[in-house]
Amino acid sequence: MPDTSQYLAGRTLILVSNREPYEHTFEPGSAAVKVRRPPGGLVSALDPTMQCTRGTWVAWGSGTADRDTADAAGRIAVPPEKPAYTLRRVWLDDADIDGYYLGFANSALWPLCHMLLQHYDMRQEYWERYVAVNARFADAAADEARRAPNAPVVWVQDYHFALVSAMLRERLATERRPIFLHQFWHIPFPPPDILRLLPTAAYSGVMRGLLGNDLVEFHTERYAQNFLDCVDEFVPESRVSRDARRVRLGDREIHVGVFPISIDAEHYESLARAPEGAAKAAELRTKYAADGACLGVSVDRVDYTKGIPERLRALDQLWTEAPELRRKLTFVVVATPSRSELRSYKTLEEEVVAGVKAINERFGDEHWTPIVLINENVDAAGLASIYRAGDVCLVSSLQDGMNLVAKEYIACNVDEQGVLVLSRFTGAAAEIDDAILINPFNVDGVVAGLRRAVTMPREERRARMQRMRRQLRRATIFDWLDAILARVDELASPPQEIRGPAERTPLAPAESSAA
Ligand code: ADP
Ligand code: F6P
Repeated sequence: MPDTSQYLAGRTLILVSNREPYEHTFEPGSAAVKVRRPPGGLVSALDPTMQCTRGTWVAWGSGTADRDTADAAGRIAVPPEKPAYTLRRVWLDDADIDGYYLGFANSALWPLCHMLLQHYDMRQEYWERYVAVNARFADAAADEARRAPNAPVVWVQDYHFALVSAMLRERLATERRPIFLHQFWHIPFPPPDILRLLPTAAYSGVMRGLLGNDLVEFHTERYAQNFLDCVDEFVPESRVSRDARRVRLGDREIHVGVFPISIDAEHYESLARAPEGAAKAAELRTKYAADGACLGVSVDRVDYTKGIPERLRALDQLWTEAPELRRKLTFVVVATPSRSELRSYKTLEEEVVAGVKAINERFGDEHWTPIVLINENVDAAGLASIYRAGDVCLVSSLQDGMNLVAKEYIACNVDEQGVLVLSRFTGAAAEIDDAILINPFNVDGVVAGLRRAVTMPREERRARMQRMRRQLRRATIFDWLDAILARVDELASPPQEIRGPAERTPLAPAESSAA
């Protein structure tokens, strides 16, 4: 990974995210503690950065042994085997998790930002909890900022914490130390007509909360422009420059940036090339794609944004319309349960299992199972071999901030024979030029895309995959991190002073009136 420490010289990085980088849990039925490092690109990219900058990571202490391993303030030095930075855990009780995480974040903001309104469920208590939990994270981050040996740069992650930066700015208003606040919004940002489905206090609070940052980052130009449209509409005292992607609010300037996230492409490629990865991929092909047959793959959390029922409908139609593809095309569908406490997710899990069963009963026989469903967690090495084995990878998201699965498939396609069939409603589609783009709402179009993928000539497949791989190598997670830190460095120097309350435009989400 490139050396990013150059950008944070003389500054202390304080990261705020919902998920923590190290989770301590008790082994079932025993007092033995085990450390888990949650999988995912963000943790693997940011953990080394935190280790070299020796900053602080503020996150929800979600592990059963987290309290027993941290001090009274929730602090613990990590990585456990070679401490390099501080993890500051924030404690949430069941009511917080219900209202803040399952409620406002995942039942209100998540469906609205993905524009899937049928899943939108808003309650006043969700918003109140979200405000309260954001305030607790702001308290923890403020405490860490005061403890920081150098001028703090606070980097807030995602839609769980729309209010943290504005709250933090208030808490540190009397501090004379320079501070820079920025936030990455990892999911789509909706246009004003969708955001206004929130109660007034909530949409106004979210917008004013995000404007507490000096820089707000998105994956695509479209999300950035939607954000600026929402600022224009919901924060009337602001002045928006769309071309410059800048907002003027009182005497402050808020910058908006576009930074498409990526993956550690080399790491995925090495997993796919490793002897075990290659052997597992060969085994999958022998089992499901012998004698020149084709193997399709898909990998998602079971989430209604991923278009899994739509994908099953398309496969059903494909095998109906093209009987010659029966026994010639098998699909491995990795679909791991997620957020199962929410009824819409639980129902979807059942729908996926039933949908796969119905298709297998309709088209399968004792020698052939059309869809192989893997509904448990698969580690990165296991995924790499599935990606390597796949002739076709189908990403059918109805909306998706980026979709890293598409990039992981490209990285693992070391034989350069795979075809990516990609929903045009993913952030990845704005970036990847050589995928077959589909509209998952149009089942005929998905079927046509799949037919094109399975019949694509070898040379075209190779040429497209080679171009996608070259493009990916030029834009990895480290390039993403590097670009953001460089922008922060540029905007934060000379260090900006925190300004006192009298000089600022009010940014107090909790105090705005309900509607
Ligand atoms: P999201 O952030 O909405 O889950 P992405 O596709 O952007 O969607 O990222 C998902 C990440 O989680 C990827 O790194 C992917 O490998 C991993 N992942 C997704 N589904 C599974 C699964 N079923 N089992 C294991 N890992 C998964
Ligand atoms: O990409 C959006 C996101 O919410 C991430 O922040 C998160 O890690 C991932 O989806 C999985 O969701 P959760 O953390 O709710 O399990």
